[in-house]
Amino acid sequence: MKNEKTLMYQIAPTVRYMMGFVIVTRENNAIVIDGGRPADMPQLKKYIGGRHISAWILTHAHEDHIGGLVDELARDGGKDFDIEKIYYNFPPYSLIENHNVPNYEYFAEELNEMLPAFSEIEPQIRHKTHIVQQGESIVIDECRIDFLYTFHDGLYSNVMNDSSLVFKLVTPNKSVLFLGDLGADGGDFLFRESRHLLKSDMVQMAHHGHMNVGMEVYAEIMPEACLWCCPERLYNEPEMPSYLADTEKQFRNGRMRLYGTAITRKWMDILGVKKHYVVKDGTQEIEL
Ligand SMILES: [Fe+2]
Repeated sequence: MKNEKTLMYQIAPTVRYMMGFVIVTRENNAIVIDGGRPADMPQLKKYIGGRHISAWILTHAHEDHIGGLVDELARDGGKDFDIEKIYYNFPPYSLIENHNVPNYEYFAEELNEMLPAFSEIEPQIRHKTHIVQQGESIVIDECRIDFLYTFHDGLYSNVMNDSSLVFKLVTPNKSVLFLGDLGADGGDFLFRESRHLLKSDMVQMAHHGHMNVGMEVYAEIMPEACLWCCPERLYNEPEMPSYLADTEKQFRNGRMRLYGTAITRKWMDILGVKKHYVVKDGTQEIEL
């Protein structure tokens, strides 16, 4: 079976928030990005539709991104998924021995959220995993994926989000930049190292639209459309959300440059972006 178009599904969360994309190629293979939590798996399977998964890209080891896949692999070896290759690059768990970080309690929580569970299932998928490096590219049917950023050791104030893979998906007609949950510090490295590669037609807004990379990154991307993996209450939150109100604490923890969604939305207005795909309105089908 051949498809006339490359289609991308930006999947709406079943609970709270998550990130999950399914891209269906013209050869009718699937590329999956993250996928969400265990509760999101029925939705994800629906959009994968039993297709061969040529590539499953895991942006970073947080539950709202990889919890579902890890749970499926732990329960039944992932028998509902026909996976060819899994791409990721997670921080090493041994970082937990480093106490010289802005907020050790938070740092340890982050490392403990998914890495131990992932290391449990890793041996059963080792033959189909690839630890991706910055600068690598892969080609799946008509799609090329260029990896522009991988884990940079030393970013400890937002350790797991700043380990997010950043990659550009290029089809014959469109380019989409995926930022995962990258924060401001990771965004600084991305900007310095790969600024000339950022321009894209669409961008997946980093970290669900808040506490994300800086305006200069988006200005370099200069997107025509934004993909927001965020529910209603996050998309429409007040300009100073309660979780950022304690600025002294933010300063202590090295997180002063993290803003709420309202600020990111203002930046997109300044850039003149007119089209916004937001999963608060349900799963989005996007032609690439
Ligand atoms: Fe996330």
